Amino acid sequence: MTTSLSSRQREIRIAQVYSAGKYTPEELLEFAAAAPAGTNDPVELALQREAGPIVASEYVPVNPSAKYSLASIGNGVGRQLVMRGDTHAVLEKASMERTKKRDFVDNFEAARILGHRILTVAVADVDAIGQKTQYYVEGFIAMGIDKPEEHGHVGNNQWVRVHLWSKALRFQHWANVFLIIMMSLTGYYIMDPFFGAQPTNPGEVGYLMGYMRFAHFLAGFAWIAMGIWRLSLWLFSAQRQLRWRSLWPFDSMRDVNGLWDTILYYLFVKKDHPTYLAHNPLQQLAYTAIYGLCIIQLITGLALFGLAEQSSWIWAAISAPVHWFGVPFVRLVHAALMFILWTFVVIHVYLAVRADNQETLGGISSMINGGVWIRKGTIPRDAHRIGNV
Ligand code: HEM
Repeated sequence: MTTSLSSRQREIRIAQVYSAGKYTPEELLEFAAAAPAGTNDPVELALQREAGPIVASEYVPVNPSAKYSLASIGNGVGRQLVMRGDTHAVLEKASMERTKKRDFVDNFEAARILGHRILTVAVADVDAIGQKTQYYVEGFIAMGIDKPEEHGHVGNNQWVRVHLWSKALRFQHWANVFLIIMMSLTGYYIMDPFFGAQPTNPGEVGYLMGYMRFAHFLAGFAWIAMGIWRLSLWLFSAQRQLRWRSLWPFDSMRDVNGLWDTILYYLFVKKDHPTYLAHNPLQQLAYTAIYGLCIIQLITGLALFGLAEQSSWIWAAISAPVHWFGVPFVRLVHAALMFILWTFVVIHVYLAVRADNQETLGGISSMINGGVWIRKGTIPRDAHRIGNV
């Protein structure tokens, strides 16, 4: 018997459960999964695979005029009524606080842009005297078609563009490139003044080293400003993919499995890897390490700079590493980090070009125009980490 590739591999999967607050995502999923016994609707089956079999005591299926289904969970007093379906239709019938609605719409947009099918869920209670309360919108379930083996050019050819990187982040990226080149050229010269150190004409004192040091310090302080700006994005950015959480792939077992699968892919053990829209777990760890090294570079640079002003207690404190470890050691660390940073740059550029070639998501141009492309219906593993907080 032959099974078509697509029917064997495609499976409706829950990509995201967004709870507007009152219920946990698990509870919301249970509400959404309520269906008549023995249902064979693929969406309901997908919901029940996650939530378990939740049998509705009463059920009114979707119809073209209403665009939502109605289910009752439990019996008599205390039962709950669930309205589930098209977002606009449910929002028309059910209420939602304005503050919650803003977050709801942001998250809805992020899921929609990924090509997910979205089921919005509203719930009403039946109180002690049998009165039905109003329906309240409680969140949504985003669903997609999972194609685990599919990678490359199989499948439908519809792509969606997802805007990921803000102007601030892109500016910082290219400013870092410029400043690191500046600091490396001038720093290398400070380390080894291989030309122009001797005056060409007798009696004339060369000042090239002075200019080099000045340029190095100027770029150094601009870089510190970039660092503070990045820190503020880690802490306060409205976009999840810019927050510090996006640098740490150990939130759940799913994260750890994703990390492992990506490592196996990079080791050429696995042919495929999980799809991530923003950074894959290995990238997240690599960038965490690089940020760590940059911070040490910054601390050692400032410590050396502070030596000129030791009468001030602030600079004396900033230069503490030099007092602890001595000037030669701090200079060594500062210079060695330059070479480590350049090793990272070479690997970073190689991997960026390679990934761009293999995945065709437009990763490199995303650092210019901010967006990547993804095949419609694909569920990236990091969908919950994308979009507004
Ligand atoms: C990517 C960033 C940076 C790179 C690649 C870099 C590279 C270098 C190198 C190679 C040296 C020469 C080390 C030696 O042999 O003495 C140096 C010196 C120095 N750097 Fe940096 N540096 C960077 C960032 C900074 C920052 C952020 C500061 C802080 C303002 C800074 C301040 C200094 C100072 C004060 C010296 C010693 C200058 C002197 O002895 O005349 N550097 N840097």
